[in-house]
Amino acid sequence: MSGALAELRDVSVHFPIRRGLLQREVARVRAVDGVSLSIERGEVLGLVGESGSGKSTAGRALLRLTPPTSGTVWFDGADVTRWSRARLLPMRRRLQVVFQDPDAALDPRMRVGESVAEPLDVHLRLSWPAREAKVAQLFEAVGLDAALRQRWPHEFSGGQRQRVGIARALATDPDLVVLDEPVSALDVSVQAQVLNLLADLRQQRGLAYLFIAHDLGAVAHLADRVAVMYLGRIVEIGPAENVLAAPRHPYTQALLRAVPRTDPVQAKAHGFQVLEGEIPNLRSPPTGCAFHPRCPAATPRCRVEHQALRPCGTGSKGVAVACWQAQ
Ligand SMILES: Nc1ncnc2c1ncn2[C@@H]1O[C@H](COP(=O)(O)OP(=O)(O)OP(=O)(O)O)[C@@H](O)[C@H]1O
Ligand code: SF4
Ligand SMILES: [Mg+2]
Repeated sequence: MSGALAELRDVSVHFPIRRGLLQREVARVRAVDGVSLSIERGEVLGLVGESGSGKSTAGRALLRLTPPTSGTVWFDGADVTRWSRARLLPMRRRLQVVFQDPDAALDPRMRVGESVAEPLDVHLRLSWPAREAKVAQLFEAVGLDAALRQRWPHEFSGGQRQRVGIARALATDPDLVVLDEPVSALDVSVQAQVLNLLADLRQQRGLAYLFIAHDLGAVAHLADRVAVMYLGRIVEIGPAENVLAAPRHPYTQALLRAVPRTDPVQAKAHGFQVLEGEIPNLRSPPTGCAFHPRCPAATPRCRVEHQALRPCGTGSKGVAVACWQAQ
């Protein structure tokens, strides 16, 4: 076992689709298909791909919230794939999550300070003064006045609610936080502020992040390494500077050229190439390389044979690409 903090080894997560009175399995959604990735202590791994590519499911598998169909999940040198809830509890303290929608983590009937204190009550059982001091300290750590902890979620802006969500995730002093599109739901004007906060917190606390996002731009500031997912598989992984400056997989190249779909007019005006074609159905993914129906470089071989991830490039340590043409 490597010194990785958390690791997925050849993990697949398939969801059965059931129909009829007998609820017979008629098909399977291969949300995650043979994914291996590891996160070192203090490292930020960006996980990028279009909607439905399996990013959240991979994150949930790492958090042990979704059981893998096959493969193993490792945390701090231990295979935790089959650990019971009770055995997982101490690990959960060290492994937290921030979701896209801050409201999902905040109970509207609870004062925000109580939401932040909840994980403390589950894991640490502090005395009342120590608990109050810790909550105040967490509010300040995420740039909120400690007095605001008496307020209700609806009194906060989206950006402030996400700050509370981050404070809650940090309450138990985790080693790794899965950030599942933490700024996608926020106004563009506050996205940068929250990203800067996440960068500062990482520096101060030596945190590792699995940073999930749709586009490469969002992870560029933070990620040490980037993994690109397409239809449940990693198609390219490597140091961020290599993947962003010299993407080798045609899908990564297309993602880098693509601009947010929310602004197609500007995209056209600037002549950017937006990724063409529909994402195929996960129930019956294309044969060979799953990207071939959309790939400008596809050859007849790509339609029948799948290339597994393999190391590429001499000067780019640690880059692996799943494409026949990648050098
Ligand atoms: N509990 C579930 N039952 C059945 N199918 C599921 C379940 N969870 C996810 N899926 C399917 O698995 C696929 C991958 O979903 P996932 O949410 O992991 O993708 P994603 O990359 O996070 O997408 P997004 O960017 O939209 O969040 C999708 O087709 C989704 O519909
Ligand atoms: S293997 Fe072929 S179809 Fe797949 S990305 Fe490479 S060139 Fe395109
Ligand atoms: Mg998702």
